[in-house]
Amino acid sequence: MAQESASKMDKIVALCRRRAFIFQSSEIYGGINGFWDYGPMGAELKRNLKNAWWKDIVQCPPPGPDGRILDMVGLDSTIIMNRRVWEASGHATGFNDPMVDDRETKQRFRADHLFGLFIEPIADAVGVSGGSQYPIVTLVASSAGEALELFEANGRKWLKDAGTAMKIASSDASGIVLENRGTPVKGTLAAVSGELLRSSPGQVPSPFSQKTGVLTEPRQFNLMFKTYVGALQDEDSMAYLRPETAQGIFANFRNVTDTCRVKVPFGMAQIGKAFRNEVTPRNFTFRSREFEQMEIEFFIHPDSANEWYAWWRDTRFAWWQSIGLTSSSLQMRSHDRDELAHYAKLGAGTSDIEYRFPFTDPGFGELEGVAHRTDFDLRQHAEFSGLGDKLKYFDQEKNERYFPHVIEPSAGADRGTLALLCEAYYDDPNRPSGVVMKFHPRMAPIKAAIFPLVDKDGMPEIAQKLFSDLRRTWNVQMDVKQNIGKRYARMDEVGTPYCFTIDTQTLSDQTVTVRYRDTLAQERIGIDRVRSFLSDKIGGL
Ligand code: GAP
Repeated sequence: MAQESASKMDKIVALCRRRAFIFQSSEIYGGINGFWDYGPMGAELKRNLKNAWWKDIVQCPPPGPDGRILDMVGLDSTIIMNRRVWEASGHATGFNDPMVDDRETKQRFRADHLFGLFIEPIADAVGVSGGSQYPIVTLVASSAGEALELFEANGRKWLKDAGTAMKIASSDASGIVLENRGTPVKGTLAAVSGELLRSSPGQVPSPFSQKTGVLTEPRQFNLMFKTYVGALQDEDSMAYLRPETAQGIFANFRNVTDTCRVKVPFGMAQIGKAFRNEVTPRNFTFRSREFEQMEIEFFIHPDSANEWYAWWRDTRFAWWQSIGLTSSSLQMRSHDRDELAHYAKLGAGTSDIEYRFPFTDPGFGELEGVAHRTDFDLRQHAEFSGLGDKLKYFDQEKNERYFPHVIEPSAGADRGTLALLCEAYYDDPNRPSGVVMKFHPRMAPIKAAIFPLVDKDGMPEIAQKLFSDLRRTWNVQMDVKQNIGKRYARMDEVGTPYCFTIDTQTLSDQTVTVRYRDTLAQERIGIDRVRSFLSDKIGGL
């Protein structure tokens, strides 16, 4: 990550803390790694995102590729389910990350997040055995950009810890040049392969101490959190916290097809918490241990997979744009064949909708995956539940019984919220706040603020009346404290698109000042027009 992006992220994290978007969970006890709380502003922002998704997916979806109204239903299934669900889905045995322990410091990291500094094979000259075969220092990062940034900040110390005499001469995205007692040495920062960790863990320095001989081989670590159901805590009562909401949908497929008048193609959607015991939670809320997903399982006839896959991919991309992610930081990336899950290899494909977060810059991080999951899940549940063919769908029009295929657009509400925060953030030295959050009005936590210019002369009463009326429809705030500049500054920092000020002129001609967040333009409108003004600008949400 470039220096500029790093400082932008620091500023966003600081703003989130200062203006009550996101706090560390259990902060008064020192926090807990990988868990985050949403403060009053963040709770509104995330709720706006989830409400928009629910509205645009479940209640009022766009017409499908054939122009027909989309058949969508919602669901709210439990976090704890019968353990067999996770055996059927493959999570009980296959939902693993390779994990390496440092035996000395007792710290742990994901093997596929280890980067190392490899040097040209000049072992004798620099007194490092193995030359470029083994890294001379290592670090944990989730992207090459982040690895470079960490190396630029800490590389000198790490080289010292590793006991080499080498110094950093220069480092940037094009490469690293070291200096060994006056001799330039070329260095490359690259991912340490799982193969190297498996074959020679003792030769790879620990990212925590830079010592060799302390790392274990990578071991598979199941990411599901366990708990116990009932009074006894034994193997039989063990249950998992769901690592995805999707399986709740598959487990209810029969209930819904039996009780609701849905016909393939149709979709089931749900928003809910998911839990993953991530080995290295990082990058603010991006990789958390408790997070929310917004998932759709769209059931289709196998023959129409290509058409529906392409349609959902494009529709979901356009949706993220419609709520404000309009910059070139949003991109679509198709998975290469070798990245695909085993069941998806025969399917139409998988694409990720990605966002360039400041901490992934110049790379991108996944916001939503759109996957053709074939009929893998329903078949698995048919087998593990013993329902067999009874779980098949009967298509009356085609007079055919089959396991529908599934297109799954699966998005993260926390990553979505983080992308909205990153996209909205603008430094603006010309404003008293120095910063403005340019949220799309539909996403803005507060839609409008109402300010009586002074706390007397009947202005607070007029403001109160307007506030009481508007709040029935929108989340609006009334603020009577401090001078007007400071009040505008507070609203800029939380991204309130419109501020209405009641002043002396209001008393004589019943007009108020509207101040536009993005342009700073001001105009006067009649106080009786404020409601219709907001309706025109932001609609009912
Ligand atoms: N049912 C498919 C599924 O769960 P996934 O790619 O593992 O697919 C879907 O997760 C979305 O959930 C991701 O695109 C991301 O937005 C979000 N997500 C996954 N792991 C996360 C984590 N540890 N922290 C925050 N969000 C996460």
